[in-house]
Amino acid sequence: MSAKIFSGIRPSGRLHLGNYLGAIKNWIALQNNAEQAIYAVVDLHGITTPYDPKTYPQQVTDAVLDFLAAGINPEKSLLIRQSHVPQHAELAWLFSTITPTSWIDRLPTYKEQLAKSPKYNHAGLRDYPILMAADILLYKSNLVPVGEDQLAHIDLTNEIAKKFNGMFGQTFEPVKAHLTEGARVMSLQDPTKKMSKTGDEGIALSDDPDAIRAKIKKAVTDSGKEVKYDEANKPAISNLLTIYSLLGNTSIADVEHMYQGKSYVDFKNDLAEVVVEFLKPFQQRRAAFERDAGAVEAILNKSEEKARMLAQAVLSEVQQKMGV
Ligand code: TYM
Repeated sequence: MSAKIFSGIRPSGRLHLGNYLGAIKNWIALQNNAEQAIYAVVDLHGITTPYDPKTYPQQVTDAVLDFLAAGINPEKSLLIRQSHVPQHAELAWLFSTITPTSWIDRLPTYKEQLAKSPKYNHAGLRDYPILMAADILLYKSNLVPVGEDQLAHIDLTNEIAKKFNGMFGQTFEPVKAHLTEGARVMSLQDPTKKMSKTGDEGIALSDDPDAIRAKIKKAVTDSGKEVKYDEANKPAISNLLTIYSLLGNTSIADVEHMYQGKSYVDFKNDLAEVVVEFLKPFQQRRAAFERDAGAVEAILNKSEEKARMLAQAVLSEVQQKMGV
C-alpha cells in the first residue's frame, strides 16, 4: 500500500520536544517515500480553546517556521494552513450530520479539554474530532503520524469513514496511526502529564540555551539517586532518559551505563547540553527561514493551491454521493 500521509499540529503555543519526538520527527522520515504527504497548521482547531486573536497569526507563522526548520521539505510535502483550504470545514459539516454525538461525548480528549476550560463548552469543541476526521479523509489519507494521545481521534475517523461508506457507498479506506518510540514525552514538572506547550513543563524547539538549561535544572526527579529507567517507580528520570536517548542517539541502556555511580545533577547537566546541541542546527535553519518571509509565503501559497485542488475532488465526490 502506498502511503498517503496527513498530519497536523495546533498553533496553540510554541512547538515543543513532545511535538517533535511524538509527531514531526515521523513526518520528516515518512515524507520521502510517500505517495502524498500533507502537513497542516490546524488553525481552525487551535481556536477551540482559549486564544488571543491578536497574537494568533504570529503563532501560525511560528508553527510554519518550526515545520520548515525541522525538515518538512516542500518539494516532497504540502505544507498548509488549514483555514486556507476551506474544504476542510465543509467536509467537517457534512460528516457532522452522520456522527452520533454519543461517539464524541465518550472521547477522553473532549472530557479533558472541558475540564481544563469549562467555560469553553461550545459546539466547536465537540466538533473538534469531526474536523480532524475531515482533515484526514479529505485527501483520502491512509497514514497519520501522531502521538499516542491522538489514537482515539484516529479510531473515530475510521468509524466515521465506515459509517459514510455504509450509508453512501464505498469511498474511504481505513486509516492507520503511525507511532514511534518516545511517542509520549512527559512534562518536566509532572511526569504523569504529557509535555504541553506552556511554561516550564516543556522545552520549546525555539528555546535558547539558557532557557533550556534552566528548565532541565528545575525538572522534577524521583526519590533515590540511580539514573535508571523504571517507568512505574521513576517516571521523571525515565522521561529524561527517553529524551536523552532520542536526541543523543544513544540507547537507554547505554545512557544508564554512562551514569552509573553518578548523580542526577551530573545527568541533568549533560542532558541540557544534549538538548542544546540537538536544537542548535534547527534554530539556525529557523532563523534563516524567518529572514526570508517571502519564500515562506510562496511555499505556503503553492502548497495550499495544490491542496485545494486535491480536496475539491474528494469533497465533490462526497457531495455527489450525499445528494447535495
Ligand atoms: P496537538 O497540536 O495537540 O499535537 C500535535 C502532535 O504532537 C503530538 N504530541 C505529543 N507527542 C508526544 N508527547 C507529547 N507530550 C506530545 N504532545 C503533543 C500529538 O500527538 C500530535 O500528533 N488533534 C491534533 C491536531 C490535528 C491532527 C489532525 C493530527 C488536527 N487534525 C489530523 C493528525 C491528523 C492535536 O491537537 O495535536
